[in-house]
Amino acid sequence: MTADLFACFPEARASREEMAEGAVLLRGFVGAYEAELVTALRDIVAAAPFRRMFTPGGHQMSVAMTNCGNAGWVTDRTGYRYSPDDPETGKPWPAMPPLFRELADRAAEHAGFAGFAPDVCLINRYEPGARMSLHQDKDELDFRAPIVSVSLGLPAIFMFGGSKRSDKPRRFRLEHGDIAVWGGPSRLFFHGVAPLADGDHPVMGPQRLNLTFRKIK
Ligand code: SIN
Ligand code: FE2
Repeated sequence: MTADLFACFPEARASREEMAEGAVLLRGFVGAYEAELVTALRDIVAAAPFRRMFTPGGHQMSVAMTNCGNAGWVTDRTGYRYSPDDPETGKPWPAMPPLFRELADRAAEHAGFAGFAPDVCLINRYEPGARMSLHQDKDELDFRAPIVSVSLGLPAIFMFGGSKRSDKPRRFRLEHGDIAVWGGPSRLFFHGVAPLADGDHPVMGPQRLNLTFRKIK
């Protein structure tokens, strides 16, 4: 009874760890959203498959990406931007499932950012060895909204630094079901992901998926 009751309220179960001012790690926050989240992800990926994009400098990223929502983050030789259409299919990105939006709003509110209302969800797929170097999320127009980042599958080491690239990042292990939220004073802090270690996750297989929810307008 108690377990069922708490399943509807991730806020009641998740533990909370401060990463920096305005940045928190909500461990296990996905909770009872897991099954529907994974099913909805399958449909999105069927309509807009993962692809490894190229940076403006001409490097192919080790992380494969897709998106859902009103726009999607893309990179190619001409630069980084949000695009309303998937350049691979020429069609709009799949809609953001209401459940995604609900989970992201709840996590943001729990972290102290009420009324988040994200319009974009970038979905990253890491296979063993894939990594993301330190960067800032700064292609959005409105930095008052936080970034909400959901981890699924294999564990990863998330590096969370400061406002300068040279600030030494702290390392946090992100596991299946964890949600990281950063906003306010740490909205533009540098962050990245260390090369993914080998493994096979019981639900997700030999990969890690990460969903970052953003408000771009
Ligand atoms: C990102 O910074 O866009 C991805 C972070 C992550 O994969 O945890
Ligand atoms: Fe990022």
